Amino acid sequence: MHKKGFIFDLDGVIVDTAKYHFLAWKNLANNMGVDFTEIQNEQLKGVSRVKSLEKILNWGNKSVSEEEFMELMAIKNEEYLGYINKMTEEEILPDVPKILSFLQEENQGIALGSASKNARTILNKVKLFSVFETIVDGNDVSKAKPNPEVFLIGAQKLGLDQHDCIVFEDSVAGIKAANNAGMISIGIGDKNILHEADYVFKDFTEISTDFIKELIEK
Ligand code: BG6
Ligand code: MG
Repeated sequence: MHKKGFIFDLDGVIVDTAKYHFLAWKNLANNMGVDFTEIQNEQLKGVSRVKSLEKILNWGNKSVSEEEFMELMAIKNEEYLGYINKMTEEEILPDVPKILSFLQEENQGIALGSASKNARTILNKVKLFSVFETIVDGNDVSKAKPNPEVFLIGAQKLGLDQHDCIVFEDSVAGIKAANNAGMISIGIGDKNILHEADYVFKDFTEISTDFIKELIEK
């Protein structure tokens, strides 16, 4: 039995896949005559595939049938899969392996809590699949972040009380979800954007194993 559970978001925390989402959404939007900028892409961080397309169509003042909507999502995902299928472990963000190894040495729970339906594919590509004791992704939830469902299922699967879990997140929606779950939230990114988090670090190179140890002992 672990003392604490550490739940990691995937996109933007373990790997930088935002650039691939951007390329695929941009092509889709541009093909419909809709503009799509990196600033808009920021607003899609942590947002589900369905909600992302809804936002893009909204920005472009477009309305489509349900059938077309499904088709557009499939086209976007096919292009996105083309990018992620080429990923290797070199794309794991700096010092993520250091923290994961430390948690393993300390025998703490390690879970994934992602909105992505491609999470398992990505973890396999970067060879981190086996590090996670449990994986909760977009296929397992019905309510998107900031709803806490994804993290609550993670805690339950780790066999831990939600208050004994710590979440690493790069999105505002994800930080809100962790806070809504009653978990300690650690933002990875910009302090000004992730100000609702309990702690914020630019990336994992700023996180020491002493800090992790303190969280375990808390
Ligand atoms: C989140 C990303 O992790 O997953 C979002 O931050 C993405 O940008 C969402 O839209 C859903 O991902 P996927 O892989 O199921 O399309
Ligand atoms: Mg993310």
